[in-house]
Amino acid sequence: MPTVTVDGEKAFEVEAGKKLVLAIEDAGIDIMHKCGGNARCTTCRVEVLAGEVPPPEAAETERLAREADLAPNIRLSCQIRVEDDVWVAVLQRSSVTGVPAGTRPQD
Ligand code: FES
Repeated sequence: MPTVTVDGEKAFEVEAGKKLVLAIEDAGIDIMHKCGGNARCTTCRVEVLAGEVPPPEAAETERLAREADLAPNIRLSCQIRVEDDVWVAVLQRSSVTGVPAGTRPQD
């Protein structure tokens, strides 16, 4: 099983193919997902620090292109299915923004 490491917090194994946003949330880590995992809000964004993630599909590429000055390793965790070990930083948290995390994305 792949291992997800959330920078400075926790490392945990996840079932291959699980959405990264759900893997992080199910590990008890605060991560936002305002649009419910539909590649619309970008609140689920993570910085991929190391490891392998699948390349972005069209919906993710198009949505991230509308944001200014994003590094190429910023990705939408709702659009990533974990297949290999990956090390990420969670960039938007409900506990920081004071906004509810949003509807849980579908599996
Ligand atoms: S873009 Fe909204 S939850 Fe991922």
